[in-house]
Amino acid sequence: MTGQRSPKDFFRPLAVGAPEPLREVPARPSRAIHFFDPSNAKMAAKVPQMVGTVDVLLGNLEDAVKADNKEAARHGLVQIARDTANLGGGSGPTQLWTRINALDSPWVLDDLTTLVAEIGDQLDVVMVPKVQGAEDIHYVDRLLAQLEARAGLTRPILVHAILETARGVVNIEEICGASPRMQGLSLGPADLAADRRMKTTRVGGGHPGYVVREDPVLTSDNVETSQRRTYQQDLWHYTIARMVDACAMHGIYPYYGPFGDISDPVACEDQFRNAFLLGCVGTWTLHPSQIDIARRVFSPSVDDVRHARRVVAAMGDGTGAVMLDGKMEDDASLKQCLVMVELAEQLAG
Ligand code: GLV
Ligand code: MG
Repeated sequence: MTGQRSPKDFFRPLAVGAPEPLREVPARPSRAIHFFDPSNAKMAAKVPQMVGTVDVLLGNLEDAVKADNKEAARHGLVQIARDTANLGGGSGPTQLWTRINALDSPWVLDDLTTLVAEIGDQLDVVMVPKVQGAEDIHYVDRLLAQLEARAGLTRPILVHAILETARGVVNIEEICGASPRMQGLSLGPADLAADRRMKTTRVGGGHPGYVVREDPVLTSDNVETSQRRTYQQDLWHYTIARMVDACAMHGIYPYYGPFGDISDPVACEDQFRNAFLLGCVGTWTLHPSQIDIARRVFSPSVDDVRHARRVVAAMGDGTGAVMLDGKMEDDASLKQCLVMVELAEQLAG
C-alpha cells in the first residue's frame, strides 16, 4: 500500500489504498507512554494521581514482571482501571494502554480474553511485543474482533507493535500495514540488541565504544600528538529512520522506546531529542522523572513554532519562493513548517 501524503496528513490515518480505519488514530500524539507494573502495589497506588499528568498510562504485563506475578499483574490492571476515574476509553486526558505478553508465551491468551472482557471499554491500545511479521498482527486483530464482539464493544481497541527482533525490522512495512487497528510502532532496543547479537548490555541509549574518531591533533611542526577527540554515534539511528519511514508511509505513529539509565537525564534527553528530530512523536517513560523530559522534548519549541508560523505567513498561497532572514523558503520548507505548526496545535488542543 502506498500513497502520496502531504506533511499536513502526517498525523492522520492513511486513506489511499488502505482498508478504512476502524476509527481515527488519536489525533493527539502521545509524547510519554508511562509504564507501570500492576502487580507492584506501590506503583499501582500512584496511578490515580497520574491521570492528567501524562498522555498514556501503560499497565505492563510482559518483561520486567516476574513469571510468578503474571496473573497478579493482569488482575491488578483490571482493578486499577475500574478504580481510576477518567482513565482511558477515548475521552479524558490520559489513555489506558497495556503491553501484553509475547504471542508465544503461555499468558497472552488470558491477557487478551480477560482484559477485553473486563475493561475493554477503557482500553485504548494493546502493545504487542516481539512482533515478527504481519501474521502476528493478523492474529491479534482477529482475536480482538472476536473478543470485542462478545463483550459488545463498539469502539475498537488499537494495536501498537514493538520492533525488537531482526525479523520484525526486515518485515517492518508489512507490520505497519497489517491492520487498520495499527496505531504505531516503538523501538525495543534491549530485545533488538540481543536478537541481533549486538555486543551491548544496556536498555536503549548510546555506547561509549561506538564512536567516530577524529584525526590526531598535529603540533605546529606537523608532528602527531596523542590527542584524539571521539564523538559517540547513535546505535539506533538506522532502526529509528526505518521505523519513521514505514510509519509515515502507513499513517501511524513512530516512538522511541525505553531508556533504562534513569540516573542519566542528559543522555536520556539526547536520545529522545534525536528521535523527535528524526520524526518520532513520543517515547516510553520508565520513571516519573522521564515524563517531563519526554513532554518537553517531543513538543516543538516556542522558537521553532514562531519561525514556522512566519514562513507560513510569508509564503502566502504556498507556492514560489521567498527570502526570510537571508534564507530561501519555498513550497518544501513550507511543508516542514506546516508539520511543526500542526503538531503545536494538536498538543495545545
Ligand atoms: C523493550 O521491550 C526492549 O526490549 O527494549
Ligand atoms: Mg523487549
